[in-house]
Amino acid sequence: MSDARSADGEVRFEKVRKAFGTNVVVRELDLAIRGGEFVSLLGPSGCGKTTTLRMLAGLEFPTSGSISIGGRVVNEVAPGARDVAMVFQSYALYPHMTVAENIAYPLRKRGVPKPEREQRVQRAAESLHLTELLSRKPRQLSGGQQQRVALGRALVRDPRVFLLDEPLSNLDAKLRAHMRAELIELHARIRRTFIYVTHDQLEAMTMSDRIAVMHEGVLQQFGTPAEVYNRPANLFVAGFIGAPTMNLLHGQAAEGAFHHPALGLPFAGGSPPASGQRLVLGLRPEDVVLGTGPFAARIRLVEPHGHEQIVQLDIEGGDTLTIRADAALPLAAGEALRWGLRTARLHLFNAESGGRIDAAFTAPAEAAAA
Ligand SMILES: Nc1ncnc2c1ncn2[C@@H]1O[C@H](COP(=O)(O)OP(=O)(O)OP(=O)(O)O)[C@@H](O)[C@H]1O
Ligand SMILES: [Mg+2]
Repeated sequence: MSDARSADGEVRFEKVRKAFGTNVVVRELDLAIRGGEFVSLLGPSGCGKTTTLRMLAGLEFPTSGSISIGGRVVNEVAPGARDVAMVFQSYALYPHMTVAENIAYPLRKRGVPKPEREQRVQRAAESLHLTELLSRKPRQLSGGQQQRVALGRALVRDPRVFLLDEPLSNLDAKLRAHMRAELIELHARIRRTFIYVTHDQLEAMTMSDRIAVMHEGVLQQFGTPAEVYNRPANLFVAGFIGAPTMNLLHGQAAEGAFHHPALGLPFAGGSPPASGQRLVLGLRPEDVVLGTGPFAARIRLVEPHGHEQIVQLDIEGGDTLTIRADAALPLAAGEALRWGLRTARLHLFNAESGGRIDAAFTAPAEAAAA
């Protein structure tokens, strides 16, 4: 496991397109993943995540474009010769084999001699806390343990690239959180390239170095968790990342300001959108200040979460905002209240194209005073 080897686990998709008949499911995908990086492919069901992973594994062939691993184009390379290991959503363990035999299976298939096989199984089992379970059969294991065996079967091969397709989706919430932490630790320890498919934005946000957000076969944005959260490239990414989701208010530009029935927000300098342009303002639930501010609302619903409250606010224009509020704030459904915004943290999008617009706003309190 030399560092030189981990450095060559880089993966590159260039203009990769995949069609099943006339159905194009991956479009002109360009993606460059560094050796040792943990990258999530994130997007809703059917957006092409599994297909992308299967092309990388060699189980599916791109219609056009090239895929390379460690600088070598692998389009024509057989799956077994790509030095990648894939963990499928269904763990696909052999029920009649013990945990040790399941983990050893890929090595036996490759003709690795028994003493080395046993040593490598032992090492993989240790790193996944499976040592005590090596003689059990899969049916004697919990879902989380089975999931670790499936990981062990990939780990034992010491591949350059790990491909993981929704490996945690069969686990309950608590076990999922536990396994997220284990995967982060495993990745830090072995420093191989991990490509992790999920439709769960929380998994992608918590584990990844970078996230590739996909929608309808098209890569929407590729960036760090902070980048996709703080500077979503378009309305799709804005609405997909974050829970509760970003509030999106449809309005338009007029006289140097964003206008919505509930609020006017003057643009600050730069080149503001032209009057008449249809816009969408994005407000994260934590970027609204409740209790004081230039705007009016009525509380529709308060959901206590213990450490915070999630509040639904009805505002002018028939829109409802979802807001995170301090647990100590006295709030009750039906009450009227004032609210304001953290203007430095607002997002603006072109309503037609959905693309992000870089705009700065004047604080609404000043606006009210002006
Ligand atoms: N072998 C196939 N033949 C025809 N269409 C396919 C095939 N495999 C996948 N598709 C289609 O390609 C699209 C993308 O499928 P894919 O499995 O890559 O989605 P996904 O993002 O992994 O979704 P999920 O989150 O539901 O697993 C879907 O519309 C699917 O129906
Ligand atoms: Mg899938």
